[in-house]
Amino acid sequence: MRILVVGSGGREHALCWSIASSPLCSALYCAPGNAGIAQDATCVPIGAEDIAGIVKFAREEAMDFVVVGPEAPLVAGMADRLRDAGIKTFGPSAAAARLEGSKGFSKDICRNYGIPTADYERFTDADAAKAYIQEKGAPIVVKADGLAAGKGVTVAQTVEEALAAVDAAMTDKTFGDAGAELVVEEFMEGEELSFFALVDGETALPLASAQDHKAVGEGDTGPNTGGMGAYSPAPVATEAVEQSIIDTILNPTVAAMKAEGCPFQGVLFIGLMITATGPKVIEYNVRFGDPECQVMLMRVMSDFLPGLIASADGQLDRFHLRWYPETALNVVLASKGYPGSYDKGTPITDLSKAVALEDVTIFHAGTGRDAEGQLTATGGRVLNVTALGADTAEAQKRAYEAVDLVEWENGFCRGDIGWRAIDRQT
Ligand code: AMP
Ligand code: GLY
Repeated sequence: MRILVVGSGGREHALCWSIASSPLCSALYCAPGNAGIAQDATCVPIGAEDIAGIVKFAREEAMDFVVVGPEAPLVAGMADRLRDAGIKTFGPSAAAARLEGSKGFSKDICRNYGIPTADYERFTDADAAKAYIQEKGAPIVVKADGLAAGKGVTVAQTVEEALAAVDAAMTDKTFGDAGAELVVEEFMEGEELSFFALVDGETALPLASAQDHKAVGEGDTGPNTGGMGAYSPAPVATEAVEQSIIDTILNPTVAAMKAEGCPFQGVLFIGLMITATGPKVIEYNVRFGDPECQVMLMRVMSDFLPGLIASADGQLDRFHLRWYPETALNVVLASKGYPGSYDKGTPITDLSKAVALEDVTIFHAGTGRDAEGQLTATGGRVLNVTALGADTAEAQKRAYEAVDLVEWENGFCRGDIGWRAIDRQT
C-alpha cells in the first residue's frame, strides 16, 4: 500500500515509524514531516492544514491510505475531502471531529446521553457567563468552545480569575472566534488519565491508558505545555477503572455519535478525571495524544497498520492487537525558553550514542537540517526520548540514561517524568 501520514510532530514520527515496519506498506510519505520522520518516510513539503494540497498529492501520487495526525485539519474537514476523492482515510469527519472542535458540542453529547462529566452551562453572552460564575463560586473552570491550541482552558481558583477569563475570551478575543462561545463548568477533583481507542463508527477497540505531564516545571509546576513527557500504561488505570471507562464513557460515546448521525471513525482520545465517584470526561480529542502516542506505539507488539485500516473500513469487530506488558516512558527535550520564546535552528550535535541504547527510540517532534545537513531544532518541543522498561521506574531510568547521551546545547527537559506513577508503584 502507498500511504501518506499528515503532520510533523513526534506523534507523526511514531506513526510513521510504526507504519513503515508493516509488511503491508510499500511506500510511505509524510506531509510535511521533519528530519526524524525523513528516516522512515519520504517527506513532502505540503502543510498539514493545506486540505487542497493534501488531496491533490494523494490523488496524483495514488495513495491507498491516508492517516491524518493533528486535530485542526480534521476539524476543518480534511478526512471528508479525502474520502470524497475516493481515498481511504483514517480520521473522523468534520461533523464527528466536533467532539474536539466544540467543547459545547461534546458537553451536550455527554449530557444528552448520560455520560459522566462535570456539570456545565454554555454561554455566548459575557454577562450571563459572569452571573453564572457568581452564582456557582470558585473553584470553577472556563473553557473556550473552539480549538485554542491547548490554551483555551482556565482552571480558576477564585471568582475574579474566572471573570477575567470571560473577559479575555469574549471582550479581548484572546482566542479569536474559538472564544466567542464559552463553557463554564464545575471543578473536578482527582487524578487525570488519558484513554485511547480505535473506533470504526460502531465498534471501539480500547488501546491503552497513558498519563502526560503538561506543566513545564518539575513537580508539575509552571505554565502548561503540549506535554513534557508521558508513560503508558498508567497505574491509576486499574482493570476496574478501565472497565468503567469502557462501559460508562467509551461505548456510550461511540453509540451517541452514531445516533447523532455523525459516526466517529478514527482514534478517540478521552481525557478523564478519576474522581471519588468514578471516571468523568474532561474533554475528548479526535487524534492521538502527543507525546502519549509515542509511548503507546512502543508497546504495540502486533502490526498496527491493519488496526488503522480496520477502523477506516468498519471492521474493528474482527481485529485484535497484542501488547508488550512493559511500560514505555518518554521525556520531551525542548528548546530553552519553551513554552515562552526560544531560539530556533540551534544545532543538535549528536544523537547516535542515545539511539544505540537497547529499548530506546528517539522520536523527532521539531527538527530540520541546515544547509550543511546539520540536524537542528525547529520548534519548542524537539525530541521525545522514549524507553521501555519492566515498570515505570525502569523505563524512567533508561529514558534518562539516553537523555544524558543527547548532545544538544540548547535543550532542556524535566527530570521527574513518571514520578506520580512511580509513587503509586512503590
Ligand atoms: P482541557 O484542554 O480541556 O484538557 O483542559 C486542560 C486542563 O485543565 C486539563 O488537563 C485539566 O488539568 C484541567 N481541567 C479541565 N477541566 C477541568 C475540570 N472540570 N476540573 C478540573 N480540572 C479541569
Ligand atoms: N498531550 C496532550 C495532548 O496531546 O493533547
